Amino acid sequence: MDHPHPDLHRLYPPHIATLQARTAAALERAGCDHLLIAAGRAHAQFLDDRDYPFCANPHFKHWLPVTKAPGSWLVITPGRRPKLVYLQPRDYWHVVPEAPAGYWVEHFDIAIIRDAEAARAHLPKNTARCAILGETNAAVGDAAPNNPQAVIDYLHYQRSYKTPYELAMMRVASKIGARAHRAAEAAFRAGEAEFGIHIAYMAAAMQSDDDLPYSNIIALNEHAAVLHYTGHQHAPPAHIESFLIDAGASFHGYAADITRTYATSDGEFHALIAALEQAQRGFCAQVRAKQSYPELHIHAHHVLAGLLKEHGFIRMSEEIAVESGVSSAFFPHGLGHPLGLQVHDVAGFQASDRGGTLARPPGHPYLRMTRTLEPGMVVTIEPGLYFIDMLLAELKAKSAAKDVDWNRVDAFRKYGGIRIEDNVVCTQAEPENLTRDAFEAV
Ligand code: GLY
Ligand code: MN
Ligand code: MN
Repeated sequence: MDHPHPDLHRLYPPHIATLQARTAAALERAGCDHLLIAAGRAHAQFLDDRDYPFCANPHFKHWLPVTKAPGSWLVITPGRRPKLVYLQPRDYWHVVPEAPAGYWVEHFDIAIIRDAEAARAHLPKNTARCAILGETNAAVGDAAPNNPQAVIDYLHYQRSYKTPYELAMMRVASKIGARAHRAAEAAFRAGEAEFGIHIAYMAAAMQSDDDLPYSNIIALNEHAAVLHYTGHQHAPPAHIESFLIDAGASFHGYAADITRTYATSDGEFHALIAALEQAQRGFCAQVRAKQSYPELHIHAHHVLAGLLKEHGFIRMSEEIAVESGVSSAFFPHGLGHPLGLQVHDVAGFQASDRGGTLARPPGHPYLRMTRTLEPGMVVTIEPGLYFIDMLLAELKAKSAAKDVDWNRVDAFRKYGGIRIEDNVVCTQAEPENLTRDAFEAV
């Protein structure tokens, strides 16, 4: 890959120092001496000898850019070098994890093991004072994951504040995604089917389904009205009107999550995309310290209701459209979510580093972020407008239906919908838009 390589040797040591400090604080909360992190073990498919794709414990990926090391462990003890217990099985059937190499290796004591159970000998003898993070099936002997809530609450909350190293990872992920989006757009313009566009995307990203941070959403025409459409039809439709692509990329365990929508021709749908894009840029500009994310979400509903009115879909005021739930029939998901090691990253609702939940605003059940923005947070901003048969049928049964122009709405069903999604870093000053920067760079 020819992505510009960030200065990882310089950025990594302070990242590790930050994680060490956070771990010490988390352990103190729980009265523990050691943090053990199990990378995880494969999950077998029912009555089969095949495994599901391996997905590493995000706590493990936080420490090192190793995403495919099932059976490995980290042992973190405040005041000591972290220890990596690294499973390289003797196995000529499968690819075994590569020998540890790169900028991160010198920061760990490393013990190589050849079978998973051998990890036990490298973990603390007495597990009573260990916080052990992992899935149940990762247990080796009496070292069984206990996932203390106090530790998880602290670490998840802190994970919202990305280190400069993490932001560098996310910039690279965004660049890989932006380049692949360009290839997908070219495939769409060439008349490819969803499946062909999907293949063009993966080829440009050099990432396959298992590498990508989530399943690509590649939707032509009315398929764009299915929010998480993953059909990948093999033949193109007779008439291609629109294209919605929500596709990301991974880099060293970090995710990009990018959506763009295109119209085949200039005209009414193209104009609606342009209007939504302008509104979306406005919301991105409000990713600033002290901005309440749920308030930004409600603000977005008012702006989108204004667009629905301007473009002739509804006749009521913005206020009534939002209060009566009409805006939610067209924009039925949240404005966005935290992003990082997971595409829907943790702690979007967390009240503090001791846990607790910040409730969603009533009437907005799918919002995934209720916190106030602070420097270091990365969120998506992804407003959308859709023509979803199920939700439109529900709207038609309400009294507000009389102030909807149904002919206009029906004429747009063939386009499916629009979503535009950027990944934005909250800083001390201007927001950093990882996605738009990446598109400019490719
Ligand atoms: N790609 C899923 C989402 O945008 O949240
Ligand atoms: Mn998203
Ligand atoms: Mn997305």
